Amino acid sequence: MTNFVDPKKVPQKALYNGTQIPCIGMGTFGSDRFTPDQVSQAVAGAIKVGYRLFDCASVYGNEDLIGKVFAQAFAEGTVKREELFITSKVWNDMHGKGDVLLSCAKTLKDLQLDYIDAYFVHWPFPNYHAPGCDGDARNPDSKPFSVDRFMATWRQMEKLVDMGLAKTIGMSSMTIPKLEAVLPLCRIKPALIEMELHPCFQQPELYDYCVARGIQPIGFCPIGSPTRPDRDKTETDVADIEVPEVVEIAKAHNVHPAVICLKWAVQRGQIPIPFSIHEKEYVSNLRCTIEDPLTDKEMEILKTVDKNCRLIKGQVFLWEGAKGWEDLWDLDGVITK
Ligand SMILES: NC(=O)c1ccc[n+]([C@@H]2O[C@H](COP(=O)([O-])OP(=O)(O)OC[C@H]3O[C@@H](n4cnc5c(N)ncnc54)[C@H](OP(=O)(O)O)[C@@H]3O)[C@@H](O)[C@H]2O)c1
Repeated sequence: MTNFVDPKKVPQKALYNGTQIPCIGMGTFGSDRFTPDQVSQAVAGAIKVGYRLFDCASVYGNEDLIGKVFAQAFAEGTVKREELFITSKVWNDMHGKGDVLLSCAKTLKDLQLDYIDAYFVHWPFPNYHAPGCDGDARNPDSKPFSVDRFMATWRQMEKLVDMGLAKTIGMSSMTIPKLEAVLPLCRIKPALIEMELHPCFQQPELYDYCVARGIQPIGFCPIGSPTRPDRDKTETDVADIEVPEVVEIAKAHNVHPAVICLKWAVQRGQIPIPFSIHEKEYVSNLRCTIEDPLTDKEMEILKTVDKNCRLIKGQVFLWEGAKGWEDLWDLDGVITK
């Protein structure tokens, strides 16, 4: 079987402004495990096998090498710029006045692009931490979420659309209370919101909230990020790919349980952005969107495996006086200050 998956066969979703986006993409966060070179080589391979959506970010530290891959793919005629949907994100240390434009410009330079298809606010506060720091590391300058601060950042995001540098803009790791506070203030509404979504963490309220407002959810850690660093693991975390129902359905479809997580995601309606540098894996992740769908019954079974198991808790962004990582997620229905 050829590894190529015809991108025309991969389902597309329409954003509220009419833009089309593939129903699956590739993540590019190599974390501590993979070098920028390995990740960019995987992007090169992924373009060749038919991926058309790539989720980048300045903090992943590999946009310059990924940019070389894009430039080469365009030069060789493997793909045209307008056939790719490329995203990136402004990191928490670049929320200040004028900084969002600088960050976007740096990303465009590194990625060797004239525009980005979607640009995200990576986290909704300016709380910075050194890459790879311990889970209990705290930055004394960290602050709780503030509507005014966030909107000052968002105004800069809107400018990027006005300037033609970003086609669409999005948010990430938001909560319903935060969205309730900021959406009415947005001149340009987010077209996309990135959120953690996998079978054991389905976030049905947030997912439905976004869909009801015409905002397309993108699901990060769609396989439950099984190989994330130990500092991001806690004893109560559940591994999606070991959940008996997921394993059972995987056996029935003769695929790895990771693939079941992705089929579930696409059929539910979010856009998963799985990461892998291994060709066999990233090919099967893309191929699974065009063949052998889950049955309605299997989708119903997978609905029941939600264990409200958040993996990316964000504890390194906590501010002085915060009680614990739960404070980042407004669990009481109000913005925690
Ligand atoms: N917006 C945000 O704040 C945010 C936060 C987190 C992540 N993200 C984005 O989401 C992307 C994905 O998240 P993630 O990398 O943490 O988690 P993930 O995609 O859930 O899991 C990735 C791991 O799953 C394994 N895998 C992938 N495909 C597989 C297959 N077909 N069979 C078996 N194993 C498979 C790989 O392990 P091996 O490497 O061992 O093969 C890979 O390292 C990131 O790269 C990033 O772009 C965004």
